[in-house]
Amino acid sequence: MSKNKGDRFYITTPIYYVNDYPHIGHAYTTVACDAAARFQRLLGNEVFFLTGSDEHGEKIEKSAKQEGETPIQLADRVVERLKKLWVELNMSHNDFIRTTEERHVKGATQFFHKVFAAGDIYLGEYEGWYCVPCEAYWTETQLLEASHCPTCQRPTERLKEASYFFKMSKYTEALLDHIKNNPEFIQPTSKRNEVVSFVRQGLRDLSISRTSFSWGIPVPQDSKHIIYVWFDALTNYLTAIGYGSDEKQFNHWWPANYHVVGKDILRFHAIYWPTFLMSAGLPLPKTIYAHGWWTVEGEKMSKSKDNFVDPFDMVKKYGADAFRYFLLREFPFGLDGDFSKNAFVRRINSDLANDLGNLTSRAISMVEKYRDGLVPEPSGGQERDNELAQRAKECAQDYTQAMQALGFEEALKKTWDFIGRVNRYIDKTKPWQLAKTADDKDRLDQVLYNLIESLRIVSILIFPFMPVMANQLRQKISLPSIDDRSSHGYLEEAEQWADTNSVQPQSKVHKGEPLFKRIDENLA
Ligand code: ME8
Ligand code: MG
Repeated sequence: MSKNKGDRFYITTPIYYVNDYPHIGHAYTTVACDAAARFQRLLGNEVFFLTGSDEHGEKIEKSAKQEGETPIQLADRVVERLKKLWVELNMSHNDFIRTTEERHVKGATQFFHKVFAAGDIYLGEYEGWYCVPCEAYWTETQLLEASHCPTCQRPTERLKEASYFFKMSKYTEALLDHIKNNPEFIQPTSKRNEVVSFVRQGLRDLSISRTSFSWGIPVPQDSKHIIYVWFDALTNYLTAIGYGSDEKQFNHWWPANYHVVGKDILRFHAIYWPTFLMSAGLPLPKTIYAHGWWTVEGEKMSKSKDNFVDPFDMVKKYGADAFRYFLLREFPFGLDGDFSKNAFVRRINSDLANDLGNLTSRAISMVEKYRDGLVPEPSGGQERDNELAQRAKECAQDYTQAMQALGFEEALKKTWDFIGRVNRYIDKTKPWQLAKTADDKDRLDQVLYNLIESLRIVSILIFPFMPVMANQLRQKISLPSIDDRSSHGYLEEAEQWADTNSVQPQSKVHKGEPLFKRIDENLA
């Protein structure tokens, strides 16, 4: 786990298929990784945050045909939409890899070679079932009724074709040992247990090439075959950091700290991928984290049901920050949850407009009103002040601990507990009464200082979730903006109170526009 300043931290999202319109699910995983990446930069760690697109395979070839395009035309068109969404959602990724790029094709080919050279690939014939939407092989016993896919519930196809196989069976024990010896390898624990009971039944050899269509990377030495799209896609985590092209860069970043995925694709990441890596003689990623599933208004999302949450619309209507906040606050990462308009509006109005928005405007208004907008010199605190300072420190520590383990919801709860605490501190100290008598001047100075100092700490803690709002808040209290991609130990500063990196007396505050305007429920 990257705790110490200057550590390296490499985190990845799945690479998304280019046949789909991006929706709340794609936004979710990517926002989560972005928050984790930003958090690690606040620790002062060197971060590589990767996302990308999965562009080969039967499914893309079929979609392109339906659209009357070539596969690469489809990919070129759709990838722009994905990239545009990441800009609108303020993602701070360091790279975006497309599996059709030369650097990937070269590296994936080399990886295939490596596994072949290890003696783990042989030619045979695959006969069985295949789900094109999931690009997944299934055995008879795994299928649902009427040969439907156990993951997506759609019909599967019967396949019979020549195929290269990977000797996955050979790695059953090695994989079980690795999972046993590395409790953090598959998270959360419930998912780890699922994987263990599956692997315990024994792994089968895996078909890793196809011959009945052509959109993919050819098998080296046998170009009638193309590499199975999952074998190809998984290697993006290597090729993007220089595997097959820049060894120094590759060794700098590999192994990854986190592959974050939805639970739909856990099997590919927690079973196939580690066994491929073992065969190729490479270290395994530290953690594969499978998060939960969003439904919308209580149902599975689908375009035909008209319950599709369009992330572009969400950003347009409510801003990227509010959407990001909701996604990571509504339920714990790792569990399933539901999106509803009502829940969204309620949450945003109460947490952002009321709690955070009001604290900000109350605190700054009072400094403007009583001290001409200049932060006063702290005069020496009372017990209540020391307690607030202590709470701030504990909050930053609890937050850090939660974020290390991708506990986004927990981290936000802690932050909002602190915000509530500061709001109550205002109610108790009653600055408007202190302002009435000259005798209370020093006391009022101290209270006002504490409020602005609390806002500084909040601005750091909310940055991974709401980078724009965090910097707007910082601007109001004359603090420098936090940079999207540079590493600086702001979190260490969040654990210090009234110290060298804190709010400086005599600095200016500006109330300006409210941080967040209430959503009118009738217009939502
Ligand atoms: O599987 N709730 O790509 P994909 C939560 N190309 N997350 C969701 C979601 C939902 N309702 N729907 C989608 C692929 N996701 C492969 C990956 S990686 C080497 C190759 C998210 O476009 C979640 O992260 O089908 C899920 O795993 C991913 O989108 C699937 O994206
Ligand atoms: Mg999918």
